[in-house]
Amino acid sequence: MAHYSSSPVLLATLGAVVIWILHKILQQWQRQRRYKFPPMVPGLPIFGNSFQMPLTQIEQAPWAQSLARRYGEMFTLRLGTSNFIFLNSSRVVTDLMEKRAAKYSSRNPMPFVQDLMSGGKRIVLMGYTDQWRDVRKVMHSILNSRQMTQFAEYQDLESKQLLWDYLDRPELWYRANQRYANAVILSVVFGRRLLLDDENLEPLLKQAEEMVKHLQPGSTLVDTFPALSKLPTWMQWWRAKGLRLYEESKRVYGKEVGRVRNRMAKGDARPCFAIDFLKETEKTTMDEDQKLFALGSLVEAGSDTSRMTMSQLIAAAVLQPDWVQRAREHLDRVCGGVGDDAKRLPRFEDKPDLPFITAAVKEGFRWYPFGPIGVPHMMSQDDEYEGYKLPAGTMVTWNMHHLSRSSDEYKDPERFWPERFLNEDLNNPLKGHWAFGAGEFSEYQTQKKGNVVREMLTQ
Ligand code: HEM
Repeated sequence: MAHYSSSPVLLATLGAVVIWILHKILQQWQRQRRYKFPPMVPGLPIFGNSFQMPLTQIEQAPWAQSLARRYGEMFTLRLGTSNFIFLNSSRVVTDLMEKRAAKYSSRNPMPFVQDLMSGGKRIVLMGYTDQWRDVRKVMHSILNSRQMTQFAEYQDLESKQLLWDYLDRPELWYRANQRYANAVILSVVFGRRLLLDDENLEPLLKQAEEMVKHLQPGSTLVDTFPALSKLPTWMQWWRAKGLRLYEESKRVYGKEVGRVRNRMAKGDARPCFAIDFLKETEKTTMDEDQKLFALGSLVEAGSDTSRMTMSQLIAAAVLQPDWVQRAREHLDRVCGGVGDDAKRLPRFEDKPDLPFITAAVKEGFRWYPFGPIGVPHMMSQDDEYEGYKLPAGTMVTWNMHHLSRSSDEYKDPERFWPERFLNEDLNNPLKGHWAFGAGEFSEYQTQKKGNVVREMLTQ
């Protein structure tokens, strides 16, 4: 009986899906006629290149690099219903994402990873909206010069712990990097130390891992075809999973925020970003979940990125050890005496005397950057560029791994060669590579990121 009564519903649903697909094909056809995109990579009807794009970062790097070599400075993919342009030279990244940042700085709709999994509240995934501006304003006002010294103190302490961990348990070096990156950011944001056996370490790492996994273009059907989010909720089989992940993030971040609030109530809280943030946002209408995600997003954004960069520096030291010898000579000179081994560990105050170390950190950002295909932005307005006509809603990214390994961009790009950064832009951490992104989103980041990694390297 149930079988017969469900047939009309099934038929109606199938009919609706077929009409929707035809509508999309028509829309796509009209769009391609009205606009002119950079060379399109051939793909399947309707699905475009959705199934060609590798889901892991390690496979994305050579894949996007080989397409750039074939198509030149720009190419276009079709992912579900979106056109996705890759920018393959610093010239076009600067022209579009930097100089026209106001048009190129939104984020594409992500019904799964942003709306469900993050309740629309992860700042890294927000569009160029009032909500983004409000959260960013508070964050920026706190992540200012005063915070720099706090970063420095925590990094100094944690990098000594890192050295101890390397010496004590060398086989756990990777885990030690992970702990270090998380510990620094946790100290800065939540004012507490983190040791290897901390009960919230795994759950915290898991939040960033889940986010990055689901963020990969093409990784979920509904983010590839956002129109599916209009289906009645009972038909959205992915919904329960998204909501479960959202609740889990709230639980994990809520635990950290709860601890800070308790310490604030007792009057024994160490100064940290969360205290300033909670006090500052009391004057605003920001809701509790947004507060949790603003603070948690900082931990997510700062941990994996720093850990990966440190691990790449270690890889570079193993694969091309010549630069390590030169780094060591510089450190010996500043922390010892001429012809001597270093007699002490370097300190933040030594930075001006250690340009080679600053250059090595920048080379680390360039040589193997985190996020090989960048973090896609979305165009909020139509635009024209060198004969192309691009509609609002187009996704645009900088082909980061390709840019860093292109001989049009860098002399001898495969070589880990810090000397390439010994120039007038040495102390501008954003100049000379694209590791921190392009345009409006990257501007946020300033000096602080460079320091996290530099401290580890100098020590
Ligand atoms: C090696 C270290 C790091 C790297 C390579 C890195 C890289 C990036 C990249 C590529 C983006 C996206 C930019 C874009 O879409 O144009 C981003 C965004 C962001 N990062 Fe980092 N990051 C690092 C460390 C940090 C740290 C330590 C923090 C926090 C203190 C942080 C906070 C953020 C925030 C809040 C955003 C979102 C910006 C916005 O939407 O306004 N990052 N980062």
